[in-house]
Amino acid sequence: MNKQITILGIESSCDETSAAIMQDGKIISNIVSSQQFHFRYGGVVPELASRAHQKYIIPVVNQALEIAKISATDLDAVAFTNGPGLMGSLLVGVNFSKFYAFGLQIPYIAVNHIEAHIYSTFLEDEKPNFPFLALIISGGHTQLIIVNSDFKYEIIGETKDDAVGEAFDKVAKLLNLTYPGGPIIDKLAVSGDNKSISFPTAFPQEGNFNFSFSGIKTSVLYYLKENYPDYKNGLPQETVNNICASFQKTVVDSIVKKTMSAAKKYDITDIAIAGGVSANSELRNRFYTIGKENEKNIFIPKMAYCTDNGAMIANVGYRKYLSGFKSSLTVSAVPDLILA
Ligand code: KG4
Ligand code: ZN
Repeated sequence: MNKQITILGIESSCDETSAAIMQDGKIISNIVSSQQFHFRYGGVVPELASRAHQKYIIPVVNQALEIAKISATDLDAVAFTNGPGLMGSLLVGVNFSKFYAFGLQIPYIAVNHIEAHIYSTFLEDEKPNFPFLALIISGGHTQLIIVNSDFKYEIIGETKDDAVGEAFDKVAKLLNLTYPGGPIIDKLAVSGDNKSISFPTAFPQEGNFNFSFSGIKTSVLYYLKENYPDYKNGLPQETVNNICASFQKTVVDSIVKKTMSAAKKYDITDIAIAGGVSANSELRNRFYTIGKENEKNIFIPKMAYCTDNGAMIANVGYRKYLSGFKSSLTVSAVPDLILA
């Protein structure tokens, strides 16, 4: 019988310290330690994030091994996020992984975070077929990418200002809601009237696949200043719900419209959607419905694989390992970080 291939995947690009084990293409453990304390500051504080990664990376890796019922010596390679992300946070994962691999005398594999989100849709039983359109919507990125074949990408659209998750987080802050803003806006929007306020969308024209979300965030601010000058001291719950519902609808409308028109223009049937904002319930429902109506197949990973996680890193590491993309055993003194 062939030897099993076992990969440890490590994610530390922002505020999640995560480690996962993939064995022969199956995730057998995925531990995510989320740095909840950032909510006190209304956003991620980079220095505190890197210190928390330092504190938790060893326990998280040990727990991933324990749950997978394997020992470190069973590993064939260590895959880690090498960017994009917060520099201090990345450095913890990069350095840990390289020296862990060196200690075990196994190769390491550098993984791009966006690439990992794209391939997170492959963690499910139903996988997209090449060429497919990938919509990456997270706290740091908003991109439409055509994936022609394994690891071959063509970016056809991206945000010209804020990432969509960033817009959710900033609007939540204006409404005195907790960080991260996406999950709470998603929840409150259910009780709001999404037609109560009209917010404008940028780049509404056809044939252009770029996004812009800073205008809508500013419109929410102007709406509050005009109608509730004392908004910093609290707002009626009904108003908060209505703003959440109207904001979310405008954002989802623009994302769905752009994505579907890109799929139409490039004649692509399979659409993979990933990144933290793909956890949004309205967005998921709208895509499943419109996909069916337009005979497009929609692939969105389960919730646990939408936000940052080690499983998506182990997954790309495994694919790269099989394709021969892995390091030699030489560890350079200066980590070769790719910061984008
Ligand atoms: O992919 P991710 O975990 O980290 C980055 O790579 O940025 O995405 C985090 C982002 C945050 O901005 C958060 O507010 C957003 O994903 N998010 C959501 C939801 N859950 C997380 N946005 C909208 N609706 C959600 N349910
Ligand atoms: Zn991410």
